[in-house]
Amino acid sequence: MKVGMVGWRGMVGSVLMQRMQEENDFAGVEPVFFTTSQVGQPAPLNAGTLKDASDINELKKLDVIITCQGGDYTKAIRPELKKAGWNGYWIDAASTLRMEDDAVIILDPINRNVIDAALSKGIKDYIGGNCTVSLMLMGLGGLFKAGVVEWLSSMTYQAASGAGAPNMRELLSQMGVLHGSVAAQLATPGSAILEIDKKVTATLRSAEMPTKEFGFPLAGSVLPWIDREVEDGQSREEWKGYAETNKILGAVNPIPVDGICVRVGAMRCHSQAITMKLTKDIPIAEIEDMIKNDNQWVKFIPNNKADSLAGLTPAAVSGSLTVPVGRVRKMKMGPQYLSAFTCGDQLLWGAAEPLRRMLQILKE
Ligand code: HSE
Repeated sequence: MKVGMVGWRGMVGSVLMQRMQEENDFAGVEPVFFTTSQVGQPAPLNAGTLKDASDINELKKLDVIITCQGGDYTKAIRPELKKAGWNGYWIDAASTLRMEDDAVIILDPINRNVIDAALSKGIKDYIGGNCTVSLMLMGLGGLFKAGVVEWLSSMTYQAASGAGAPNMRELLSQMGVLHGSVAAQLATPGSAILEIDKKVTATLRSAEMPTKEFGFPLAGSVLPWIDREVEDGQSREEWKGYAETNKILGAVNPIPVDGICVRVGAMRCHSQAITMKLTKDIPIAEIEDMIKNDNQWVKFIPNNKADSLAGLTPAAVSGSLTVPVGRVRKMKMGPQYLSAFTCGDQLLWGAAEPLRRMLQILKE
């Protein structure tokens, strides 16, 4: 199997490469590495030299193309390959093709049935989902599979990585500028906190804050809008909650999903506070079992302060495939209303992991 790798050097691509090497995914495949700028230079894994990512004739030779190059690349190249009669599998991290009828959103621990049905129908486009949606489903898939979710609202706390690598750098630079503005006072234990706060607020609002990427301060603040507006005051990130959840599940009767998506100063883990209405009153122990037993990555966190603060945070989860789910309890609105909090690495299950697993499915 000849597998083309495009965009393997960017942030998601690098995480993907690392995971593929850890899992020995290149065994039994012939990788071909592509570039947009360094044609002819040595490729990784001793796989010859880098090929031109816009060369349709080179791309046409492949059985599978995995791309983390971004939406513009997909838009430009996928139709050209189709026109050229290429019939291979296209595995893509970008959102461009997600909602196309002849594309599947891949999250195999949740929708292996949908993927298998598509493979047997001859579908060729397999697209990674939006990170918040994928992480929510990895955590709460058990409840969806049991058919007990009437509706779900997710209020997100999304990390800087979702906006891109330069944004992660900018977040840290902003933190540094804020700290720098009051470093002397902080070093003096007796200094007045309101004086410190005044200075920090003035710095937050000043031109000293680096804001080229986010447009606004994120450190010391939150940004309650992600991506552009779709309609009716809903952002595109919020719109994906409903559209992609139901597409991933292959839902015949779509489940309402909505909420507010917010950027916070975490590095690469998205968190979500969930409110759900269940279709019926289910004992809490049964609910916990449904969540726990869904897949090997979900980790149920008992609803107490010590476990929640130790295990249900970006600090605890960053860099791992574990998706903790906690704060699960019946809400005061009534016995069918359930709360939950979940958190997960946006670059792993939210981006790279479903792609590498799709290649393994094709190898089966
Ligand atoms: N759109 C997501 C975010 C990242 O901005 O956090 C990719 O799914």
